[in-house]
Amino acid sequence: MEVVVVQSDVTEIDADILVVNLFEGVTSPSGATGAVDTALNGMISELISDGEITGSASELTLIHTPSSMFPNFKPSRVLVAGLGSGDSLDLNGIRKVSASVIRRLRASGVKQAATIVHGAGIGGIDVGDGARALVEGSLLGAYRFLKYRTTDKKRKPDVEQLSIIEADSSKIDAINAGVSKGIAYSQAEILARDLVNEPANKLSPADLADVARQVAKDNGLSCTVLEEADVVKLGMGAYVGVSQGGPRPLKFIHMTYEGDSANPENNLWLIGKGITFDSGGISLKPGAGMGKMKGDMGGGASVIAAIQAIAQLKAKLNVHVVCAATDNMPGGSAQRPGDVVTAMNGMTIEIDNTDAEGRLTLADAIGYALSKDALRIVDVATLTGAARVALGDGVSPVFGHDDDLVKSVLEASDAVGESMWRLPLDAVTKRQNSSKIADLKNTGGRGGGSTTAAHFIADFAGDTPWVHIDVAATSMLDSTRGWTPAGATGVPTRSLIELAMRLG
Ligand code: BES
Ligand code: MN
Ligand code: ZN
Repeated sequence: MEVVVVQSDVTEIDADILVVNLFEGVTSPSGATGAVDTALNGMISELISDGEITGSASELTLIHTPSSMFPNFKPSRVLVAGLGSGDSLDLNGIRKVSASVIRRLRASGVKQAATIVHGAGIGGIDVGDGARALVEGSLLGAYRFLKYRTTDKKRKPDVEQLSIIEADSSKIDAINAGVSKGIAYSQAEILARDLVNEPANKLSPADLADVARQVAKDNGLSCTVLEEADVVKLGMGAYVGVSQGGPRPLKFIHMTYEGDSANPENNLWLIGKGITFDSGGISLKPGAGMGKMKGDMGGGASVIAAIQAIAQLKAKLNVHVVCAATDNMPGGSAQRPGDVVTAMNGMTIEIDNTDAEGRLTLADAIGYALSKDALRIVDVATLTGAARVALGDGVSPVFGHDDDLVKSVLEASDAVGESMWRLPLDAVTKRQNSSKIADLKNTGGRGGGSTTAAHFIADFAGDTPWVHIDVAATSMLDSTRGWTPAGATGVPTRSLIELAMRLG
């Protein structure tokens, strides 16, 4: 879908359909909706007084405006989108309404649509921020993963063009800036979704590395991919142990964006878990739902996608992306429960459960980052089923020992509408990772499963400011929610972009 900004009076616009809006409780619309109401001889106010349109959130009312009846009004349809009460509309509300509008337009067979920026009038929302949220809601809400649906003949084609109409010339620059940002953020999140939705037979570690190389090439980044022999030489015994149970070679991906090359210490390392399929290994998962483990590289997908937008938007800091990609398979050479492996930093780990593999790969990815002088680390991982038990699938748990970096992550996530909540790294759960025969074991027993996993990673981050985001529950949804269709969500790609933009 192409998004264009047009300076024009709404009533003069030529499109298949014009989208306007209404706050709940408004009886005589003003602004753009008022102008359309006037052009339609008061039809909108009449529908309001009839009780047909109330302006409640998620209400969509389609009005036919054929040229035989309204010769001076070009769109043959008007869609009135309810915004709910005036004081409760925020950017997430705009994302949400834009997503339902775009799906409704698609269902109605619309090719060219025009809309105003919701909430920018009496809603009091900054017009640039509103435009960005409108674009995000529209692009993300329209997302579908259809590449393997080859026989579906009834499917409605996507809306081709969305024009954002603004009459006031002084607002056009801000809207254009918001639109560009919205496109970059959304395209990145869509890339992450595509990678998570891709089946494991179509996305091996090597395929993921190819995607990273392509993103790097297209955006002027550098990209290094280490092979098994390289990571063995570096001493990444934890990572290699996970990989050895399957035939597809591991790929250790490192991408770099230099937004402040004069100050290499001004860096942010984004580390994503990259398990291209998690069978559990010898501690094999039950069959039901195992197919979802094609998405166990969701963290890696989000960091690779985020650096694309970070480069496009020219964040003023150096960003490194690391993804230690591998399958976790139960082959004859797989590691066994009870094995002991040695991580890159020299720490020994007792493998209590081969299905707790993500933390093993992250341990060595963090070891690598620290060996390259990482000064701030954010890791993203589909790490624990316990994340869903703790917070459900609408909120990602966040852990970290650096209050400033935790705060920055939470603020960034809040700004983009990807909900997160900090959980404590308390001393009691930390002890659950103790091993009798090694420095640590890779499971923490009953209770606090997300926390013990975070503690494990914390031991490898040491004193370096570090934040861990567990997206096990939030990176895939069973059903559509707002601007997030069922399947991969792309979370927390936009939060990571926002974080880099704010730190830089
Ligand atoms: N990839 C899984 C976590 C996961 C579960 C992600 C459900 C998405 C949906 C992870 O590798 C895993 O298997 N974790 C185990 C850890 C346990 C063995 C300590 C878990 O959560 O059960
Ligand atoms: Mn696992
Ligand atoms: Zn996993």
